[in-house]
Amino acid sequence: MQSVHVNTAQPYDVLVETGLLDSLGNLIGRRFHGAKCFVVSDANVMALYGARVINGLRDAHIETRSLSFAPGESSKTMHTIEVILSEMNRAEMTRSDLVIALGGGITGDMAGFAASIYMRGIRFVQIPTTLLAAVDASVGGKTGVNMGGLKNQVGTFWQPSMVIIDPSTMDTLPGRELACGMAEVVKYGCIRDAEIIRMAEELARIAATPTPCGDRTDIHKVLENMILRCVAIKAQVVETDERDTGERMLLNFGHTIGHAVEKCTGGAVQHGEAVAIGMVAMARTAENKNMCPAGYTDRLATVLEGLGLPTVCPVDGEDILGAIRSDKKRAGQTISLVMPDGIGHCSIVPVDIEILTDYLAI
Ligand code: GLY
Repeated sequence: MQSVHVNTAQPYDVLVETGLLDSLGNLIGRRFHGAKCFVVSDANVMALYGARVINGLRDAHIETRSLSFAPGESSKTMHTIEVILSEMNRAEMTRSDLVIALGGGITGDMAGFAASIYMRGIRFVQIPTTLLAAVDASVGGKTGVNMGGLKNQVGTFWQPSMVIIDPSTMDTLPGRELACGMAEVVKYGCIRDAEIIRMAEELARIAATPTPCGDRTDIHKVLENMILRCVAIKAQVVETDERDTGERMLLNFGHTIGHAVEKCTGGAVQHGEAVAIGMVAMARTAENKNMCPAGYTDRLATVLEGLGLPTVCPVDGEDILGAIRSDKKRAGQTISLVMPDGIGHCSIVPVDIEILTDYLAI
């Protein structure tokens, strides 16, 4: 089994292997001996993988409770956190026990947040079942919920004690969600690792080729390798800047415009799609300003479109500007933009809000 070690203040391993979900009882029993488990999931993921996970733990003689909530962003609230905490309390969870987040980013953020404040903090394990959560939200310890219409307005930094990624859980993802995850994968290629772009092109080629008997072995192999590379980059960035005050902003490539697109379209354009649009806009800006080589934007747009992602902004520039101005990540009069210098390298550029319009080639 392959893994990435994340050397944060509380270090942990990210394990990646197809079929890992079936060894969960052994894995958890060995690493967290004697801990009771509390599995948190949304109703969709619980229906797909809940029994496999819970039975696997119980078969290994691990006392296990579970809770599921309604799927979707509207559940990402303090109310759901209160429900999770009350159920953990009723299950008599203690500081030596373990929360397991089974699902996508919303589940990981909420289960992690609940774990971080229950009895002033107990351990939790992330089992991401979406590509987006596997390469991004499950690693790095950001937890939280939305409030007052603002995403992740309340939360903590609380690193998981282990991350378990089984790419076969992504077989059940709708194509649109898989494409959204690929936008974040391409982002890692742009900021640190040109080879990831080549792998993304390969995955698009395999996915477009019909396979006999629905054999997904090739896809799982490419996914494993790609996820490992992305997680290794995320680990390096998070180790350098665990609290997101500097280099970690690199992970926001495409996200400033992306968040604005999500906000202006009321979520009709999904996160990964909006990030794809944002990355292409920043690439065009950088190319117009001779900050990156000619042809960069075309190559990036071709890769993203080949993965089924949009690259043209459906929102008016003035509306994007207004949404960015109210972005919570703004530090006073300046905003930090992530600009590409070439495939595999980006820089953080502070830009005065007054001249921001020069940097939005949408
Ligand atoms: N999702 C960006 C970060 O973890 O910092």
